[in-house]
Amino acid sequence: MKIAITGKGGVGKTTIAALLSVSFEKAGYKVIAIDADPDSNFASALNFPNVDKIIPLVEMRELIKERVGAEPGNVGMYFKLNPKVDDIPDKYCIKKDNIKLIIMGTIKKAKGGCACPENVFLREVINHVLTERDEVVIMDMDAGIEHLERGTAEGVDAVLIISEPSKLSIDTSKRINRLSKELKIKKVFSVGNKISCIDEENYIREQLKEVQHISFIPYSSGLRKVYLNDGDLLKSPKEIFDKIKEIKEYLERELRN
Ligand SMILES: Nc1ncnc2c1ncn2[C@@H]1O[C@H](COP(=O)(O)OP(=O)(O)OP(=O)(O)O)[C@@H](O)[C@H]1O
Ligand SMILES: [Mg+2]
Repeated sequence: MKIAITGKGGVGKTTIAALLSVSFEKAGYKVIAIDADPDSNFASALNFPNVDKIIPLVEMRELIKERVGAEPGNVGMYFKLNPKVDDIPDKYCIKKDNIKLIIMGTIKKAKGGCACPENVFLREVINHVLTERDEVVIMDMDAGIEHLERGTAEGVDAVLIISEPSKLSIDTSKRINRLSKELKIKKVFSVGNKISCIDEENYIREQLKEVQHISFIPYSSGLRKVYLNDGDLLKSPKEIFDKIKEIKEYLERELRN
């Protein structure tokens, strides 16, 4: 199961990605969590220790140079387009129990389709994880899936679009849905988050008619308190865990091979 989680800024992507990762892990799966959001905080949400010391892959200049054959930042030079990356997930992840976390770092947008060493490297790592690994993969993305190129997107089994009840969030969700179709992503699901009443749920249902809705997570003051305290999402209230379980079980049913 390879799942990409996306949606407008602040809708709850990282919270849901972290809780889903833990939920799959607790059910006995091995999980690879990928932080593909430039403003990364998946590690804190997963409660990994020494978060400040973690170096994102994109900043490992020596490693990129060794594998791709050119210094990061070089454009138009000759370099390997299919560098060796099969050892990267295990060597350069941080691990806690059965969750391996890979932090990508900021992936610059390639201008005019040109490739630079760091983009080639990160793309290959993502491709490798999506196509060659057996673990459940949960990718925490930013507000778009633009840097999933067509080739990479083929490895994604489902995009989970998180929306909150607001026009701006819905606009982003619609755009992501269109893009997912263009990229021929196999399945696109919707999760509504921060829902305060049935009207808000209906608003999201109405606005995103063409997407399959998995779950609506309530606005939770208990979850807000967790973020105000130590941020340990394992202390989230039951109402949140129940919804995460619902999403996990739905994905298991839908994505079973
Ligand atoms: N169901 C909820 N109820 C109340 N607050 C929530 C809920 N889900 C998320 N939040 C709050 O929303 C804020 C943003 O959550 P989160 O960081 O998971 O969003 P994000 O989409 O990953 O944001 P970013 O785009 O910045 O990466 C957090 O402070 C979190 O407490
Ligand atoms: Mg986030």
